[in-house]
Amino acid sequence: MSVSLRAVVLAAGKGTRMKSTRPKVLHDLCGRAMLWYVLRALRDAGVAHVVVVSNDELEPHVSAVAQQAGHASVQTARQEPQLGTGHAVRIALEALEPAEGTLLIVNGDMPLVDAALIRRMMQESRRVALSLVTVRMPLPSSFGRIVRDGNRVSRIVEERDADDGERAIDEMNAGLYAYDETKLRAAVAELRNDNAQREYYLTDTVEMLASAGETVAPVLVEDSVLVLGVNDRVELAHASARLNARICERHMRAGVTIVDPHTTYLEPELEIAADVTILPNTAIGGKSSIGQASEIGPNSRIYRTRIGRHAVVSESVVMDSEIGDYATVGPWSHVRSHSVVATGARVGNYVEIKASKLGAGVRARHLTYLGDASIGARTNVGAGTITCNFDGSKKNRTEIGEDAFIGSNSSLVAPVRVGDGALTGAGSVVIDDVPAHERVVGNPARPLRKKAPT
Ligand code: UD1
Ligand code: CA
Repeated sequence: MSVSLRAVVLAAGKGTRMKSTRPKVLHDLCGRAMLWYVLRALRDAGVAHVVVVSNDELEPHVSAVAQQAGHASVQTARQEPQLGTGHAVRIALEALEPAEGTLLIVNGDMPLVDAALIRRMMQESRRVALSLVTVRMPLPSSFGRIVRDGNRVSRIVEERDADDGERAIDEMNAGLYAYDETKLRAAVAELRNDNAQREYYLTDTVEMLASAGETVAPVLVEDSVLVLGVNDRVELAHASARLNARICERHMRAGVTIVDPHTTYLEPELEIAADVTILPNTAIGGKSSIGQASEIGPNSRIYRTRIGRHAVVSESVVMDSEIGDYATVGPWSHVRSHSVVATGARVGNYVEIKASKLGAGVRARHLTYLGDASIGARTNVGAGTITCNFDGSKKNRTEIGEDAFIGSNSSLVAPVRVGDGALTGAGSVVIDDVPAHERVVGNPARPLRKKAPT
């Protein structure tokens, strides 16, 4: 290819059927904006530069989504007011330096599109003025109808402008086009809006090119899921479910056991090793990773978290944290705010861990709150232990050494340190530092009296 490939994403439509104050392409599917998926597919297909046609509400958000999607070269072109897809393309072309070669046009509301389909369409666009993706769909449908002349497309008729015969056509326009840019520019300049919606239709360029003797090649896709459009919340839920199914399937084929894909909610950028088992009603998102043979779920939420090998997280919520190899979390735990649960540590029933580090082999198995704490290896934290980290104005740290024993129902009033091998008795209220190997009890906690020599 002589010039690097460029694409236009049409995303300025008001999306009125969403009944939302949020622009349509910013609605979320599996943890990412609709626009993220389109930009990702374009990136993966090797598209070097993208113009996103946007409106006033969308414009400020485009660069953040592009960055998330890993697309370095995305510009916006503002279309106000929105006078149709043909008008949107005209605005994009004004923003782009003219070049020879292929220009891709993609509707922004088709999040299931993938790079393979875009590449295939590009292949078929060589030596023709336009190739466009078509799909057979059950009727009735609101998609534009493909009017064929053998192996060529001669016209696209929008559903609202179609007569009964045209409406009975079951081959539809998907909204994905590869144009010869020079020919596109000439055609777009000629568009008129004398149709049912008083809009400039991009799809009218098809008849213009065909009647000028140019070839418009249909690229028929078998799998209509790839080109599902999202126009309202019902279609959004449907597309989300299909995306989720696709993500689950990819992981299952890579060796992950997903007991019930229908109640397992996965985002697109996860690393899940082989022999991981995911139990029902579990959501995993952000850029989380899960190591080999770990078991996650049921009834769990894991976001932006790294989990090691052979770990277990059951019926728990883990956010922005790290769970080591062979560690267990749950049932009914909450680990959050950059906490670390190191190798083999055990966090159990009704335990909350916030911004804390639990060393290897630490046990905190029942009814405990550990906030802003660090706990050395092998220390046992008894049931009902609380780090009193908040003094009413600021958060304070609790530091506990290795091999310590924190008795049930201890309150550790931070800032406070408990040394290696130290012990606090059941019910202790620890307000002063406890030296290594010291034993304290009571409220306030004091060293245990040494027995008087007899
Ligand atoms: C469009 C096609 C139709 C196709 C269908 C596939 C036209 C005229 N019709 O219809 O043949 O079957 O997509 O989903 O193109 N947009 C703008 N500016 C505008 C209008 C729309 O940027 O002024 C954007 C929208 O944000 C959307 C895309 O273009 O992402 C398609 O617009 P939409 O109104 O959804 O078109 P459809 O009626 O679905
Ligand atoms: Ca649409």
